[in-house]
Amino acid sequence: MVKKILVLPGDGIGQEIVAEAVKVIDCLQADFGLDVEMEHALVGGTAYDDSGSPLPQSTLDLARAADALLLGAVGGYKWESLDIAVRPEKGLLGLRAELELFANLRPAILYPQLADASTLRSEVVSGLDIMIVRELTGGIYFGQPRGVRTLDNGEKQGYNTLVYSESEIRRIGKVAFDIAAKRDSRVCSVDKANVLECTELWREVMTEEAKAHPDIELSHMYVDNAAMQLVRAPKQFDVMVTTNMFGDILSDCAAMLTGSIGMLPSASLDANSKGMYEPIHGSAPDIAGQNIANPLATILSVAMMLRYTLDEPAMAERIEKAVNSVLDQKLRTADIHSEGCRKVSTSEMGDAVVAAMR
Ligand code: IPM
Ligand code: MG
Repeated sequence: MVKKILVLPGDGIGQEIVAEAVKVIDCLQADFGLDVEMEHALVGGTAYDDSGSPLPQSTLDLARAADALLLGAVGGYKWESLDIAVRPEKGLLGLRAELELFANLRPAILYPQLADASTLRSEVVSGLDIMIVRELTGGIYFGQPRGVRTLDNGEKQGYNTLVYSESEIRRIGKVAFDIAAKRDSRVCSVDKANVLECTELWREVMTEEAKAHPDIELSHMYVDNAAMQLVRAPKQFDVMVTTNMFGDILSDCAAMLTGSIGMLPSASLDANSKGMYEPIHGSAPDIAGQNIANPLATILSVAMMLRYTLDEPAMAERIEKAVNSVLDQKLRTADIHSEGCRKVSTSEMGDAVVAAMR
């Protein structure tokens, strides 16, 4: 049956970068026999402007019916003063929760052509290939109770709840172990078990789950040390598995090791490999509409979609090779530009990838 992709450009540069990723899908359809249907819908700030909700029911219905979602980014200055319940970010968090996309895969790979773009010395990062597996539908992002209350003395108090059940920990652990089995067979579970009971349980359950994966070497690390190790000696890691908030923070850190956050794709999967695919960077409202953003993270997200949801690994590889080839041709958007390379726009980069695919 023909697979359905829901395209959600979102806000800011989301519009421009998703347009380039759609060119890549068009090319696969026209020239390489990819059998998919694409539909478009609104999410985030643009959806709020249109209907008063960052996740309209119509978008959610289409999202449920789709096999895969391609998302640009959400958010922008314009919506920052809105009530937190209708901010663009709620659109994204709502999709993750409603579709139960609990497994967030964030690879941090250094392209050798970009070794000089990293702020770390090239010997520290060259050959870097880490997979961060972030729990995405639980933890402090979703825990109840939450809010801001007024105490008896009239002072306000903000509160959130960090909560994980055994089954939530086990299922994300299993994803991490299965991915490690296809890589270097090492998983580092990141927690704060010395302070937080919730992550003490996290550590216990990970240790238990590891017994079902005897070929995988499991280690544990406190999150503060993990942040330090990521900038000190990042190549020690293969797969890292961690909570929603720790994963949010560590994945930005890992992304920057590779030189530009503009290069990194991500996948958010449910239990049946339905997925939402998006670049890990945000909507960059400061450069939106200028045709200078890097579309490669979004294009590489299409490759992840082909691999994890659409089961077309050869097409995924075709995209990844094309990205390598445009980098070899020394084409660079502004974020990864360096001396001796040619600076190209968002749309020129997309066109170059399509040309290299053919
Ligand atoms: C991310 C983003 C989101 C998150 C925001 C936009 C809600 O930072 O995907 O990493 O915190 O999960
Ligand atoms: Mg983040």
